Amino acid sequence: MPLTIAALRPSVLLEAELLSVKRCLDEVSANDPVAFAVEAAEVAAAEACFVSRDEAGEVLGVAWRFADAGAWRPGDTGPWRLGLQVVPRARRQGVGQSLLAHITNVPGPFVARCDVAHTRARRFLTHRAFELVGLVMHQRWDGGPEDVPRRFASGLIVEAKTDADFSSARELLLTAALEAGPLAMRRGSVMAPAWVLIASRGGRPVGVSVARRDREGWSIDSLAISSDARGLGIGRQLLCTLMERAAEEGQGVCLCLSPEYPRVLDFTSRLGFWTYRTSADFRRGSRSPTVATDTGYGDAPTT
Ligand SMILES: CC(C)(COP(=O)(O)OP(=O)(O)OC[C@H]1O[C@@H](n2cnc3c(N)ncnc32)[C@H](O)[C@@H]1OP(=O)(O)O)[C@@H](O)C(=O)NCCC(=O)NCCS
Repeated sequence: MPLTIAALRPSVLLEAELLSVKRCLDEVSANDPVAFAVEAAEVAAAEACFVSRDEAGEVLGVAWRFADAGAWRPGDTGPWRLGLQVVPRARRQGVGQSLLAHITNVPGPFVARCDVAHTRARRFLTHRAFELVGLVMHQRWDGGPEDVPRRFASGLIVEAKTDADFSSARELLLTAALEAGPLAMRRGSVMAPAWVLIASRGGRPVGVSVARRDREGWSIDSLAISSDARGLGIGRQLLCTLMERAAEEGQGVCLCLSPEYPRVLDFTSRLGFWTYRTSADFRRGSRSPTVATDTGYGDAPTT
């Protein structure tokens, strides 16, 4: 099957290009139950994008990359996060390989994620020098207002609105990440349209949660509690506030966490969260040995 690869400029995608990318992504999710459903908007927000087209100009595969705001550990300067999807009827013909070669045309490192059950995707990545670096558990809670767990009196919760609020939230997330706090679940950009809650005790901010609305309902990007304020019920209080709002809106709450931290798993399961999917993160290229100075909170593109 003769194919051509074209580079699209995500920020100025034409309507017809966006539609053809959407058709490809929709075909993947309709025919591959293990692939992650991806919206065309995610591709449109990427830093770079390549498509593979057949003779008729139909898009059979898409690859895109964006600067990762998801580094969890200090010393991680933030790799490129890759997305790669090929419609099942065009697989095992070299489309994925060729898209991967194009999307990795910048210095790495690169990370890519697939469902742990996607044997072909895992094999595709490991055969191309990607190494498994960790598993991610995807959890959700779908209760009603009466199911929101009881919270214990602890901090004062306010919604971040001003620049000062946002920078204090960023500061707190960075500190929690540098303390290797497992409760800093995922670095995300602290910016609108995220819903950022700050918990304070004695006038000092000690906890922050960052959540945003997406097709899954409310997704928690980050939850971080200062090390000296853990065990006081503040994380629980922040999550309960989110759960309450989601339940009132008839939505669920999603979060991602690493199985490396059983205490965090205990914490979320006590609140009623269930793991519904596990994905694997793969990486190609080494980590920088120096600690990142860029916080990634707010400066990096929204993921
Ligand atoms: C992962 C994915 C992108 C691979 O796409 P693809 O087009 O099938 O990739 P390729 O055809 O280049 O390579 C796939 C395999 O087919 C083989 N192959 C390629 N051409 C072939 C041919 N003509 N005959 C037989 N095998 C062939 C390749 O050697 C490769 O084998 P390997 O994975 O064991 O090394 C695709 O399975 C997919 O879209 N999965 C769902 C999305 C996903 O999980 N993406 C994860 C990465 S972000």
